[in-house]
Amino acid sequence: MSLSIVAGPEELAREAAQRFAAAAARSVQSRGAFAVALSGGSTPRAAYQALASPPFAGAIPWQSLHVFWSDERCVPPDHPDSNYHMARLALLNAVPLPPANVHRIPGELPPEEAARRYEADLAARDRPLDLVLLGLGADGHTASLFPAAPTPFAGRLALAVYADHLHSWRVTLTPAAINAAGRVLFLVEGAEKAEAVAATLHGRPDPARWPAQGITGARGEADWLVDEAAAALLPRPIS
Ligand code: 6PG
Repeated sequence: MSLSIVAGPEELAREAAQRFAAAAARSVQSRGAFAVALSGGSTPRAAYQALASPPFAGAIPWQSLHVFWSDERCVPPDHPDSNYHMARLALLNAVPLPPANVHRIPGELPPEEAARRYEADLAARDRPLDLVLLGLGADGHTASLFPAAPTPFAGRLALAVYADHLHSWRVTLTPAAINAAGRVLFLVEGAEKAEAVAATLHGRPDPARWPAQGITGARGEADWLVDEAAAALLPRPIS
C-alpha cells in the first residue's frame, strides 16, 4: 500500500487528476490505449472537473481512452444518483471521448441483467483495466462491496448487490476484477472517513468487515490518496 496525504479536497483533486493523466500517458504510449474505471459518490467529482479543465483536458489523449465504472446505482443514466450522470456532467460532456468508448453500467435494466451486460463488456476486452478509481465509505465499503455482505463473487467480474441499509440495488466490480487492474487508486477525504481509513490501513486484517483491505490491484498494493482530515487517525512517524 502506498499512502500520500494531501492538505485538503483541492489538493486531492489536483493530485488525483495528475496521477490519472500520468497513468493515461504511460498506457497510451506503451500500448495505444488506456482503460479506466471511474468511482462514484461525491469525492471524485472535483478531480473529474480538474480533468475537464486546463491543463489536463488538452493534455490527455481522450480518443485513446475507454471509461468504465467501479460501480453504479441501479437507476437510469439521467438520474441524479447515477455515477454515470455525475461523471457525464463533471467530465464526459467536456472532453472528446468517442461515445463508443464510454462503457456505462446499464443501471436502468433489472440489476442482474445490468451486471451480466456490464460483465460481457468487460470480458470482451483483451486485457484488464489499467486503472480503477475507488472511494471509501465511512462504514468501510468501497465500490459497492459492503461490510459483512454476501460475497457470491466466484468467477464474476461484475455483480448485482442489494445494499440493505440503502434499500437499493447496485452493480459493482468484484474484487477479482479490481485486483486484475494495473493500478488501483483510492481517493478519500473528510473527517468522517478517518476511522474507516485507520481501520482499513492499520487495523486487524478483516476484509469481510473492511472490504478495501482485500483490494490490492495487480501490483499487489493499492495507492491511497487521502486528505489530512481523513488521515487524522493514522499513526504518524515521530518527527
Ligand atoms: C458510490 C461509490 C461509493 C463511494 C463511497 C464514498 O456509488 O457511492 O462507488 O463506493 O465511493 O461511498 O462516497 P463519497 O465520495 O461520496 O464519500
